[in-house]
Amino acid sequence: MPQQNETSHDTIMIGKIIVEQGLASQSQVEECIESWRDTGGQSIEDLAKMFVERDLVTFGQFKRVQKAASQHASQFEIPGYKMMEMLGAGAMAVVYRAKQVSLDRIVAVKVLPKKFLKDPEYIARFLAEGRAAAKLNHPNIVQAIDVGQSGESHYFVMEYVEGQSVHDRLQEGKYYDEKTALDIIIQTAEALAHAHEKGFIHRDVKPHNIMITKKGIAKLADMGLARQMSDEKAALEEEGKAYGTPYYISPEQIRGRADIDFRADIYGLGATFYHMITGKVPFDGATPKDVMKRHLKEPLVPPDHIMPNVSAHVSEVIEVMMAKERKERYPSTRDLLADLRAVAAGEVPMQAHKTFDLGSLAGAEANTKSAVVDFSEGIKAMEQTPLIAQPIFWILVASGILNIVLLICVIMLWMG
Ligand SMILES: Nc1ncnc2c1ncn2[C@@H]1O[C@H](COP(=O)(O)OP(=O)(O)OP(=O)(O)O)[C@@H](O)[C@H]1O
Ligand SMILES: [Mg+2]
Repeated sequence: MPQQNETSHDTIMIGKIIVEQGLASQSQVEECIESWRDTGGQSIEDLAKMFVERDLVTFGQFKRVQKAASQHASQFEIPGYKMMEMLGAGAMAVVYRAKQVSLDRIVAVKVLPKKFLKDPEYIARFLAEGRAAAKLNHPNIVQAIDVGQSGESHYFVMEYVEGQSVHDRLQEGKYYDEKTALDIIIQTAEALAHAHEKGFIHRDVKPHNIMITKKGIAKLADMGLARQMSDEKAALEEEGKAYGTPYYISPEQIRGRADIDFRADIYGLGATFYHMITGKVPFDGATPKDVMKRHLKEPLVPPDHIMPNVSAHVSEVIEVMMAKERKERYPSTRDLLADLRAVAAGEVPMQAHKTFDLGSLAGAEANTKSAVVDFSEGIKAMEQTPLIAQPIFWILVASGILNIVLLICVIMLWMG
């Protein structure tokens, strides 16, 4: 979460434009802004010096970028809202803090770039989904409030969340202990279960979209925000930009399947969980294409193989969440929640076992489960099979009968 001083909104926009114009990379910009903040971060002139000293831009270029950034902020107006500072910028949009005048409350306004106006089908979907999302009401979902068009831009008004996103924390190099991560993932799964039951699929579950309030409440953001392009196309087009690498995208979204369902969200949540407890994304690569290929083909390294202190149970749940074939994932978000709660209570994740059993019976494609899963699965199979159907039962019965027959023979021989 950026510092909210006088210059922070300009700074974020300046950084974004510098990256977009190919003048510097995202990490160079971040390093520069960090150093500027470390030295007090007071004036934009000092920031300009930092960029120039590092040979990233000339003073002339910086001035042009600065002008573009301030225009971006000041040009936008929505009737009924008083726009305040910029909160952040993702790959597709810029988010501002604003006051909703009628209710005298602070909200967040997401403004989409003008290019979206060119696609009437997308706009219709954006407006329809936004209105539908405003009907969702859940403590773990960032409340959608309003959606519409002003001038040349479309906007999405939502609840303002004061806090940090999971991504912000991961970017600081901090990862989560298992208990805290489980708590956040359970809250997010609650949000998803509610949305799924109402017919919503998020399609973009990732650390950027999970915000944590100061009281530790997890809020899932961007519910109901339609994606314009196919996920693969969007990810490839953003190559090298902030959104760039599709670390949390499901294999079926990469394949561009039209029938994306709740299981894509379960995969995204699994990948987020993985990153939170290991500090590493599940599949990395030099380009978005490499990452996507790995989501499709490369077996998942179980999280407990990377971090020995991660429990086998959590690892097993993540492996089911991130199964490449969606029929091997959880059959419902409520089933996932049952397992997450069981693991949080120190119990066995029964649904993960069951799901995996069904997946193998269905002749699922080459499984990538760890030895831990295979082993526990065997135990589970033993536990679930009725005694009468187990070979050991019949061996014991046969040997019992044999013993009785032998005893009778011995008695008969002895008697006579
Ligand atoms: N409801 C909100 N309340 C407060 N801050 C928000 C809210 N929604 C978004 N933000 C801030 O704005 C930033 C940009 O959000 P945005 O959704 O545009 O991008 P993102 O989720 O970071 O990435 P992507 O573009 O890949 O979805 C976020 O990182 C967050 O800091
Ligand atoms: Mg977002």
